[in-house]
Amino acid sequence: MPEYETHDFDVIVIGAGGAGLRAAIEARSQGLRTALICKSLLGKAHTVMAEGGAAAALGNVYPEDNWKVHFRDTMRGGKMLNNWRMAELHAKEAPDRVRELEEWGALFDRTKDGLITQRDFGGHRFARLAHIGDRTGLELIRTLQQKAVADGIEVFMEVKVLRLLRDGDGAVSGAVGYWRPTGEFVTFTAKAVVLATGSIGKSWKYTSNSWESTGDGVAMALWAGADVIDMECVQFHPTGMVWPLSVRGILVTEGVRGDGGVLRNSEGRRFMFDYIPAMFAAETAKTEEEGDRWYDDHSAGQRPPELLPRDEVARSINSEVKAGRGSPHGGVYLDIATRRSPEDIRRRLPSMYHQFKELAGVDITAEAMEVGPTCHYAMGGVRVDADTAATTVPGLFAAGEVAGGMHGANRLGGNSLSDLIVFGRRAGMGAADFARGRSGKVAVDAGQVDGVLAAATAPLDREEGENPYDLQHDLQETMQSLVGIIRTGSELEEALGKLEELEERATAISIGGGRLYNPGWNLATDLPSMLTVSRAVTQGAINRKESRGGHTRDDYPKADPEMGSVNFVQRIPEGTGGTAGAGGTPSIRTITVTPEPIPEMPDELKSLMELEEAH
Ligand code: FUM
Repeated sequence: MPEYETHDFDVIVIGAGGAGLRAAIEARSQGLRTALICKSLLGKAHTVMAEGGAAAALGNVYPEDNWKVHFRDTMRGGKMLNNWRMAELHAKEAPDRVRELEEWGALFDRTKDGLITQRDFGGHRFARLAHIGDRTGLELIRTLQQKAVADGIEVFMEVKVLRLLRDGDGAVSGAVGYWRPTGEFVTFTAKAVVLATGSIGKSWKYTSNSWESTGDGVAMALWAGADVIDMECVQFHPTGMVWPLSVRGILVTEGVRGDGGVLRNSEGRRFMFDYIPAMFAAETAKTEEEGDRWYDDHSAGQRPPELLPRDEVARSINSEVKAGRGSPHGGVYLDIATRRSPEDIRRRLPSMYHQFKELAGVDITAEAMEVGPTCHYAMGGVRVDADTAATTVPGLFAAGEVAGGMHGANRLGGNSLSDLIVFGRRAGMGAADFARGRSGKVAVDAGQVDGVLAAATAPLDREEGENPYDLQHDLQETMQSLVGIIRTGSELEEALGKLEELEERATAISIGGGRLYNPGWNLATDLPSMLTVSRAVTQGAINRKESRGGHTRDDYPKADPEMGSVNFVQRIPEGTGGTAGAGGTPSIRTITVTPEPIPEMPDELKSLMELEEAH
């Protein structure tokens, strides 16, 4: 068996985006020996793709805004599938977390009175997003990273975690992984582990996610016996780049629409007026003039339909393209140049200006952008307790995108950055409390580690077999074409069959060379997670026989109140896992799915759903 180094901590945090950094800062502030483990370089995380801002009811631009309206907007945006307690905590705590970032050195754009200014985003009643141009996620990461390093948190960069370790009582006791550049193995013992591994988007062909987002956290949680919920709820952000093909999927921030950008089809029509759903009809403008008035005075008019929640906008774009009214490269047009001056665009949307100029040769101060939906965010994820971020496995916590519940069936833009800092902090507190209460020394179980290492190195020992890049390609094609933005029962069943074939093929992967600087091997170790989350999404999508938020079924086009009253919970029941799947992991066939009732919302929160400001 290969040798491995061992490190011992009170708390380890896996993932160093916004949630991971915030969790580590919290655990460290309570005096615990804390490590942060990241697959990539510190500072490179999907957090930076939340460009347009962090939603928080600061009331700096519209004093009428408050946590109650933010809560209502979030629940409505999530089509009521949300964990209401998470939505409540999020709405109440986001303003303090944003102010805390400011105290830690984060820069924000300002109102003329010097307050943090706030921009409009879809589904938010008031201009609510604290931002700096279109680089807010980057600023959040930069600030937290600086604080984490200054606070003395130990950082393990470019470490891919393969599996969580558990002790005899079933509690999580650490993790095993390898240094990506050298392939050397490394284990960590810890009294508590926080998962903050982010997204699952790399299982789709067109995504705003970069290579790290292979769903490792959700998969590792399932393999360790934790529950995951509502995995079928995947967000396709309405606006990704569609051309050139080499950059298809890269995010075009919702900030463009927030700042007045409009969507047009190939006939020049603002088609979003044709897609206003009944739920939002009362508050959405029916004419261009009405919509335009709203940018100047939110109390004077109704929101333009480009600012409907993301699920509505993405589906509408999809319909226009399907109806033959798309742009030459299969998108629609997004135009900001008509409303804003070139100086304004370059100041408010500098990354978008640069991105289109450099990558597509398009000057967005003068021309429209071609955009279309791109896989962006997983609403589903590891089931957690709202207050502590504890999962259903003792010692394991989860925060940020890897955790499910907060956003229900559809996330409002801007609610991700605030989610990361609210629940990153809570996960850090939960993990610290658990670690303090855990007596005795936590030890590495050599048998468990050896099993993981043997499975990880098996592809290097095979003389011939499957190429991991072929598998990745086939997986992404399958998920894009059969489990995409619009789904149907027969295609989902077909996807399930294909995933099982892919799993079979993954047990026969063969990699040339050794562990040192070997991207093919690195990918082979990501595939088990990608297959596991793809199965969970597909299985959830088969079971949710309705359309709700980011989950749209062609064969069940309406929301069904009964389906809307349950979460679909998936797990691998203890003792059924075995190691029949890829990479020595439990087979994807062992994942079960059960509908479980969503806990009843208390009356005082229910009454907020009827708020005056809604209309
Ligand atoms: O469009 C955006 O700037 C993305 C923000 C988010 O996903 O929250």
